[in-house]
Formats: sequence, C-alpha cells, structure tokens
Amino acid sequence: LALLNVRRDLTGVTVSVSAGGTREPIDPVRYLGNRSSGKQGVAVARAAVDRGATVLLAAANVEQTVLDAARVPGVEIVEVGSTAELAEAMQGFAARADVIVMAAAVADFRVASVSDGKLTKEDGGIPTLQLTENPDILAGLVRSRSEGQLIVGFAAETAAGEELLERGRRKRVRKGADLFAVNEVGWTAGFETSDNHLVILGSDGAIVGDVTGSKREAADGLLDAVVRALRPPAR
Ligand code: CTP
Ligand code: CA
Repeated sequence: LALLNVRRDLTGVTVSVSAGGTREPIDPVRYLGNRSSGKQGVAVARAAVDRGATVLLAAANVEQTVLDAARVPGVEIVEVGSTAELAEAMQGFAARADVIVMAAAVADFRVASVSDGKLTKEDGGIPTLQLTENPDILAGLVRSRSEGQLIVGFAAETAAGEELLERGRRKRVRKGADLFAVNEVGWTAGFETSDNHLVILGSDGAIVGDVTGSKREAADGLLDAVVRALRPPAR
C-alpha cells in the first residue's frame, strides 16, 4: 500500500493556509495583481490534509485546475479576490487554527479610488493610478494570535544567498512570525514553476529547514519544520 509511509503527524491539528495572489480592481474589467499561481499554497494545504490535519484554505484567484488538488475531504475552501477579502477569510479562520501559513502573495497596494466605469482612451490623456497601501494581513494575525498558535510567513525574494537570508530574517522580525519560508524568485524561478527551493527560518533567525524539489516536497519540508516547532523534542 503506497499510503503506508505517509506521515500522519498533523492529526488533530487545524492548519489555515492562504494561497494564490490577491488582485486589486482598477475598474470593472481590470486589476493590479501578481503572478502567483497558488500552487505552493495548495501543495501545503494538500500535504497537511494528507498528514492528518483539518485544513482551512483561503484561495486568492487560484485557477480551478490548481485548486482541484485541494478539493478533498478535510479541506474547507474559501475563494477570494482582493486583499480585503483574503484578510476577512484568514481572520475568520484564525479562531479555529492551530497553525497559520500565509503562502499567498498579497498585493501591497490597491487603487485609492476604483472607477465605476471602464477607463477609456476616449476620456483623453494617460490615466495616473493613485495607490494606497494595503494592511499587512500576516502582521495583523500575529497581533491577534491566540495562545500557542504557530504562524508561518513566506517571502519570495529576487535576492540570492546571504542577501536572501538577511531579507528573510528582517521580514520575519518585522512581522513577528514564528517560521519564515524564504524562496528565490525571478523572471523564471519560483512563480508559475513546479520546482522550488525553500529555506525555513526559525524564531531566532536560524535555518531550521532547507528543502529543494517539487512544490509538494517543499510543502512537506515546511510541514516537517511546523511539526518540530509544535512539538519540540523532549530533552
Ligand atoms: N503579507 C501579508 N499582507 C501584506 C503583505 C504581505 O500578509 N499586505 C504576507 C505574505 O503573505 C507573506 C509575507 O507577508 O507571508 C511576506 O510577504 P512579502 O510581500 O515578502 O512582504 P512585504 O512586507 O510586503 O515586503 P515587500 O515590500 O518586500 O514586498
Ligand atoms: Ca509584498
């Protein structure tokens, strides 16, 4: 039986995961977004449920063919579009979650005043989009965390090596997450690909995990670090 070697080390644990990328409307037909496919977050959700967890998944603009991998018993899915909708979904999940994984790429800015009608060249000139900053969902979840809740952030960076780690460390501290998964992205690596390299930073900034492989393998490596953080080895 192929399932025999599947770990069931998240039995009894509820894991809330965000996946995909948020989109901010410009007008009824346009948005500001990013290239996150949601594959990494969906892989975390699927790996967690396979390991026995109950999973609450907030999927931001994830293609149905990608999301289908998470449509299994034990996963509750809420589909969202904008950053405000993702924040509401994740805050709604938080009361039930033992572990929160913010894998979604959140739009940092939204358009200050969304146009009711489609912007058109007939109006003349070149439009200027006035942007305003979105709230930090992860930092908000950390501020309102419940006792013992483990919070995991993700940082996709275009840096490499030590600079990549330093940025990840600074970000983890700024947001107050327990674990931070850092991965290198670029025009070709990370986004929309099926291979990943994740370095997982712990609460003192030390490397507590390092995994390369498919998004599923990266997800399992991340969950190994989560399990270790939930249940520190007895000494
Ligand atoms: N995040 C969030 N809310 C935001 C922005 C980011 O919850 N408004 C979360 C992401 O889901 C991720 C982590 O914060 O888990 C790091 O995201 P990242 O975009 O790397 O961090 P930023 O603080 O936005 O930094 P940068 O300016 O480099 O984009
Ligand atoms: Ca950002």
